[in-house]
Amino acid sequence: MILTDLKKEIDIFGRPMYMDLKPKKSLAADESAELLHCKTWDAEAAMRMLLNNLNPKVARNWEELIVYGGSGRAARNWKEYHKIISALKELEADETLCIQSGKPVYIAPTHTEAPRVIIANSNLVGNWATQDYFDDLDKLGLMMYGQMTAGSWIYIGTQGILQGTYESFAASGKMDFNSDSLAGKTILTGGMGAMSGAQPMAGTLNDAVIIDVEIKESEIARKVEENYCDRLTHDLDEAIKWANEAKKKKEPLSIGLVGNAADTHPEFIRKGFIPDIVTDQTSAHEVKKYVPSGYEKNYTELLESGVNIREGEYVRESFKSMASHVKAMIDMQSKGSIVFDYGNAIRNQVELALDIVNGRAPAANGMTTEDVADLKQHLKKISITTVRNEKGGYVFPGFVLKYVRPLFCEGKGPFRWATLSGNPKDLDAIDDALISTFPDDKPLVRWIDRVRKTVPILGLPTRICWLGYGERAKFGLIINDLIKDGTVTAPVVIGRDHLDCGSVASPSRETEGMLDGSDAIADWPMINFALNAVNGASWVSFHHGGGVGIGKSLHAGMVIVADGTPEREKRLKRVLTVDPGTGIARHVDAGYDLAKKVAKDRKVKIPK
Ligand SMILES: NC(=O)c1ccc[n+]([C@@H]2O[C@H](COP(=O)([O-])OP(=O)(O)OC[C@H]3O[C@@H](n4cnc5c(N)ncnc54)[C@H](O)[C@@H]3O)[C@@H](O)[C@H]2O)c1
Repeated sequence: MILTDLKKEIDIFGRPMYMDLKPKKSLAADESAELLHCKTWDAEAAMRMLLNNLNPKVARNWEELIVYGGSGRAARNWKEYHKIISALKELEADETLCIQSGKPVYIAPTHTEAPRVIIANSNLVGNWATQDYFDDLDKLGLMMYGQMTAGSWIYIGTQGILQGTYESFAASGKMDFNSDSLAGKTILTGGMGAMSGAQPMAGTLNDAVIIDVEIKESEIARKVEENYCDRLTHDLDEAIKWANEAKKKKEPLSIGLVGNAADTHPEFIRKGFIPDIVTDQTSAHEVKKYVPSGYEKNYTELLESGVNIREGEYVRESFKSMASHVKAMIDMQSKGSIVFDYGNAIRNQVELALDIVNGRAPAANGMTTEDVADLKQHLKKISITTVRNEKGGYVFPGFVLKYVRPLFCEGKGPFRWATLSGNPKDLDAIDDALISTFPDDKPLVRWIDRVRKTVPILGLPTRICWLGYGERAKFGLIINDLIKDGTVTAPVVIGRDHLDCGSVASPSRETEGMLDGSDAIADWPMINFALNAVNGASWVSFHHGGGVGIGKSLHAGMVIVADGTPEREKRLKRVLTVDPGTGIARHVDAGYDLAKKVAKDRKVKIPK
């Protein structure tokens, strides 16, 4: 075997990848329901979901093990990937495989009701939890960024985020425009990658006209091909013309505009196009993933394609562009747009840039004194001095604070499942059961009706919907019954995003502006993680930095496999009760009246 040149890989990818061990064929879950490669369905499910995360139809860049969200990976490198697969195949029913940042490190003797896999990704002690420090460890091959569902093997492609984005846009319709529909309203956003690529469809599912600015034509073309986006253009004037025509006719339309949001957004203002709603999902949470004005690729991609660029120069340009981008969003807000942050930390990045130039934070990622001076001059030129309002909050709010918190108070969040048979008929049977179980939940029924017609099956058949406390346990048991009576032909993986009511501490996203000021308290995801483990989830995970970047969040994930057995019923009931239960408790503790009412009505025990 040719030995991997690790030093060269570190230069190219920023980390050792053991590329010579990359499988020759691309990966996909083996969907043969009968064929167990592992000794238990739990280990088999973990393996199929890992493979599904890396299916090229699902993953953003499977060859580098990147699933979504910047560099969110499923395994540390190809060497560790193979070791994970072997360990899962050999794992006994009373053993637990421990994964440390994408590397299998211990097969622990446990018991049959314990999780088969425990995953810890990207966790660092507080004082060391910086992007720079993390990048150094990544470079040494000691850590990996797991995002939320990438490193915990429950990513389900763009659909995963489609529901959340659909809900947020729908909530904007109700709260900002007092309407069930966004017909005749325009949305402007950025990014059309793995998760951000859900935005065009989430907009049109709400009847809106949406312009989504993406630097890479190939990303827009992919979403047009997948039916997530209607049209592609390179021409900003054409995008405005199409948008205005559709707005006038109150027809839904999604437009992918090839361009850099830092350039297009100020241009939209100059041309007098002020959208009704403005948000953003470019990959701003990592300064080296956001593409600055004048560039077509991010930092890693530039290195891969042989462009010799100084790190500090790239980072400086990235900060400058993010500042121009955010300034345009603030200007649109002052001209009447509803503006909210969609969880990519772009506000934090601009705040960091301001802190660096004002000497409140050290210059990061190889920036020199000259780089800092150049950045300072740019911030002065575009007149941005803060991203905060006079009360100390952000000048435009995050989407959780604005739209999602009331749902969290009911224990609601992104509940999802994947059918391990690979058979779309199994997915249909579960969709039908969902509608007949909750016929009065009109938004849920509308969601399932629309999404089953429009969302393509990519990789394993999967579905997502937001269910609350009580509803998740009820429906988990129904799925188990469908397997028991043979309606569904193989076990089903049930999980959720880490973006949930009780599983995350993320002060600029999920826990922004908590009523009692408890935004940064991360005891809650710890409690959630431990409870799901002791109650018998199939695998559990604890991560750092997902969604918004290193140093900015801590969060837990859980997955439980329904296999149709009576034993599993007990575990499903336990896990699917306490998982949203921690969310109710978290919001009761923070003083939310709605959570207190839900706890009382649904008999969630809170110590008096
Ligand atoms: N619920 C949430 O909070 C939520 C949901 C979805 C995404 N996000 C966040 O949104 C971001 C994107 O996630 P993703 O999975 O789509 O990442 P991704 O890396 O797959 O896609 C991001 C896209 O942004 C594009 N881009 C980068 N800089 C740009 C620029 N200046 N102008 C135009 N396009 C640019 C990239 O080319 C890429 O296609 C992440 O920060 C993620 O955490 C948050």
